[in-house]
Amino acid sequence: MNSNRIVLFVAIGLLTIMVVANSINSNGDYIPLDSLEISAADNTENFSKLMDVLTHPRCMNCHPNDNIPKQGIDRHPHYFDMARGEDDHGFKATSCNTCHQSENNPYSGVPGAPHWALAPASMGWQGLSHEQIAQRLLDKSTNGGKDHKALVEHLTQDKLVLWAWEPGVDANGNLRETPPISKEEYIQVVEEWFANGAVIPVN
Ligand code: HEC
Ligand code: HEC
Repeated sequence: MNSNRIVLFVAIGLLTIMVVANSINSNGDYIPLDSLEISAADNTENFSKLMDVLTHPRCMNCHPNDNIPKQGIDRHPHYFDMARGEDDHGFKATSCNTCHQSENNPYSGVPGAPHWALAPASMGWQGLSHEQIAQRLLDKSTNGGKDHKALVEHLTQDKLVLWAWEPGVDANGNLRETPPISKEEYIQVVEEWFANGAVIPVN
């Protein structure tokens, strides 16, 4: 055996020891290196995609931190001095459902979905950081008593939520912008993030 070969064997031996040492965590459980790193990265990616949707005007316009619904991609205050009113459904004379029907109106440009209303004040997200939004979203005292299962259901099936991907045309006849990822990808992201324990990544 020449000296080059010995160097090679020693190097391979050292490398093996390093890899094995790295894949055993402090509890002594075997954790494949790759899957550990990828799942943390995946979680962060899912979280940031979810936040890109939640902070899009299509969601945020109904989740303000004041009493006024917003309109359009520029989030201007709702016309006609529309405000939260009684039970988040507006005032009697100008209830949200006077104008907002259960479907979009392609002629007038009034958007619509069943039980159109402003999200309750405890679910206001505007102006909060991603971490704060996630904390509110997960907190049963602010989210309407929803556990993880109910949240996944709401996020993936509620008509007001899914309206964001079929937002119709505005009063000028222009198509409203949809959130930055497709509905299918969004649903997958929601399911994966909750399946992983809904962990809020630390920066
Ligand atoms: C037309 C107004 C409207 C739009 C648009 C809207 N929401 Fe909501 N949202 C509401 C109302 C009203 C509630 C409270 C309903 C309830 O608790 O059943 C709510 C509640 C929620 C909740 C539960 C509360 C919480 O803090 O966990 C989540 C999650 C949510 N919305 C997500 C979204 C997402 C995501 C979008 C956009 C893709 C969206 N919403 C778009 C009106 C809206
Ligand atoms: C007098 C009729 C009228 C009433 C009442 C009304 N709206 Fe609207 N709303 C409209 C019209 C018209 C538009 C479309 C404006 C546009 O896109 O140019 C609109 C748009 C919106 C949008 C914008 C959606 C988006 O993402 O751009 C939201 C959110 C909204 N309304 C919420 C509400 C809420 C909540 C209430 C009750 C508190 C309400 N509206 C009451 C007529 C009304």
